[in-house]
Amino acid sequence: PIETITAFEALDSRGRPTVGCTVVTRGGARGRAIVPSGASTGSHEARELRDGGERYGGYGVRRAVANVEGELLRAVRGIDVTDQEAVDRALRKADGTQDGGRLGANAILAISVATAQAAAAGRGLPLYAAVGDGPRTLPMPMINIISGGAHAARALDVQDFLVVPVGATTFAEAIETVARVRAATGEVLRDRGATWALVADEGGYGPQLSSNREALEVLSVAFERAGLIPGDDIAIAIDVAATQFHSPSEGTYVWETENRRMQADELVEELAAWSADFPIVSIEDALAEDDWDGWRTATDRLGGIQLLGDDLFVTSPDRLRRGIDDAVANAVLVKPNQIGTLSEAREVVEIAHVAGYATVLSARSGETEDHWLADLAIGWNTGQLKIGSTMRSERTAKMEPSARDRARTRRRHRAGPSKIRERVLT
Ligand code: PGA
Ligand code: ZN
Repeated sequence: PIETITAFEALDSRGRPTVGCTVVTRGGARGRAIVPSGASTGSHEARELRDGGERYGGYGVRRAVANVEGELLRAVRGIDVTDQEAVDRALRKADGTQDGGRLGANAILAISVATAQAAAAGRGLPLYAAVGDGPRTLPMPMINIISGGAHAARALDVQDFLVVPVGATTFAEAIETVARVRAATGEVLRDRGATWALVADEGGYGPQLSSNREALEVLSVAFERAGLIPGDDIAIAIDVAATQFHSPSEGTYVWETENRRMQADELVEELAAWSADFPIVSIEDALAEDDWDGWRTATDRLGGIQLLGDDLFVTSPDRLRRGIDDAVANAVLVKPNQIGTLSEAREVVEIAHVAGYATVLSARSGETEDHWLADLAIGWNTGQLKIGSTMRSERTAKMEPSARDRARTRRRHRAGPSKIRERVLT
């Protein structure tokens, strides 16, 4: 049973405050967790509690920290840490709002994850072995190489150009392959005279290029330079993050760097053209968060590749069910802090797997040294993991040996529309 919780304000990788806490059980088991924070957040996400005022530009989390040690602790004290759902229900009930905004979704998630850690510690297990039904696979990483949008001062309109090392057979080989692509991309950018020395929020490059498509050309040249065969060894994933450049009042999508204004179907056609010319296996947030009609068009047109809903589904069981009923997208990005508790995030993974939707466990652009999300990807068998680039410690922490050299996992192939899911790592 939970005896005490101590909370603290930490800084995330963008230098903004975030919530951490330690749960201690009556038996002396301890679990610690720090939560991440996004920048291109969807409007349907759970709400972080921020202090406002002068301190840290209003981003302080002292009130959330106080709520962890006050109202939320009172709500969960005495509940067994092995009953994750009971703890999460009590947290939700204490807050009382749909979006967690009264006591803070950041405060709620910190306790939820620290509870899981304490339960694992109490059983003498690493987190990945204590959550879910037992790990069967290591996730295929989806790794950021070039950033735009809210993560790179809008140097490009499309937010993430990532790679998936689809030919790798082990996690170590996957990471080495991607590190080679990242290094080669730096050389290609330098040769093109693009500014490439600055690092974007997720550890990728944030170059000023003449068009969004040019980022795909840069990656293609980098693959060649790295000696990798497109489609066989390496593939491209993009996160369009279309909510960020969508005007709901006009219903149009605007790319500032190219001075282009598009209707949803024009944007879908552009993405179809990219997919014909480049080895793209996954497109995230092709359309804006509430453009369900546009999403249906995209699913009809591009459904042969992985269509991943981030701002669309916001890790919400209800929104995912609507997507499944409407046959929209075929994969879901899972970010526990979009919904608030581990139980709800796990429910999303289960709903997705039953419906044949792929799952990608994802970090946020504001991350910390904590790596519980890599453990969840393994324990929940999500199949894929999106963590940022191959540098900056808040990213590489998710690849470190404790999260990587997992004891016996065996290869297992899951059926589905995605090439990525046909190869899981050992
Ligand atoms: P965010 O970005 O953490 O800033 O929301 C990540 C993403 O859009 O996938
Ligand atoms: Zn996204």
